[in-house]
Amino acid sequence: MDKYTLKKEISKKIYEQKKQNKKIGFVPTMGALHNGHLSLIKKCKAENDICVVSIFVNPTQFNDKNDLEKYPRTLNADLEKIQNFCDFVFVPDENEIYDTPDNRVFDFGNLDKVMEGKHRAGHFKGVAQVVSLLFDIITPDKAYFGKKDFQQLAIIKKLVKDYNYNIDIIPCDIIREESGLAMSSRNERLNPELRKNASEIYKTLKKSLDYINIKDPEQLTKYVINTINKNSDITVEYYDIVDDNTLKPIKKWDESKNITGCIAAYTGGVRLIDNIKYK
Ligand code: PAJ
Repeated sequence: MDKYTLKKEISKKIYEQKKQNKKIGFVPTMGALHNGHLSLIKKCKAENDICVVSIFVNPTQFNDKNDLEKYPRTLNADLEKIQNFCDFVFVPDENEIYDTPDNRVFDFGNLDKVMEGKHRAGHFKGVAQVVSLLFDIITPDKAYFGKKDFQQLAIIKKLVKDYNYNIDIIPCDIIREESGLAMSSRNERLNPELRKNASEIYKTLKKSLDYINIKDPEQLTKYVINTINKNSDITVEYYDIVDDNTLKPIKKWDESKNITGCIAAYTGGVRLIDNIKYK
């Protein structure tokens, strides 16, 4: 595995590989890598000649300074975890990524007005900004994103379409802890008790599948929020049952062919997200 910190160096290396017709796969991350990230990286390695991973905690996508400061940074452990699957790892610093002012205005229509977009002002602008800058540097054939960040995936697909990137976006399944809790770098900030309690989030989402024939989406939304909030350590920020493509909330199950329930909840000051597919 070769490590790069400068864009011109990794770009040159990738250009040489592309000249030899090598296919480039790319996994952008913010580090603190766990098995969720590793599943993307392994898939990327299996499906491409060259697997590129970036590790960059992107400040422009954090609307909460405290969250940015507390974001775990574990570079040495990260490099060790990926060394057998990754060919090139890109670890730039902030000045390297943001070396020129970027005044682009992204228009995602409804996609960034709801859920995460509504509760984390400017978050998706920051995500789109860094992902497009990384796409320009890495020029991958395929890029891998987790379904855990369901709305991010929808935004990235739109970015690729609107900006005519010739990149296949590959959605990857959510990897969970044994308890069902979706793996997340932020889980590291939970003490064992809170971490155990946090598994109630997914348990409730899974249980809600049993009720789709007897509750409409609005009733099911209330059921999920009330059940999770009964746990005194967890507070639901939102639960929205939406169409997979438009991310608009749905009122009846037959309104859409693809429906997902998306949640954000706080526990112990840590914000967690998850989702479940209904249809
Ligand atoms: P990060 O949170 O580090 O996640 C990197 C990738 O790993 C994302 O595509 C995310 O959806 C995926 N991932 C995280 N947890 C997962 C899990 N439990 N199962 C499956 N996939 C999982 O998402 C970001 O970084 C950033 O926003 C980024 C795209 C790198 C832009 O800065």
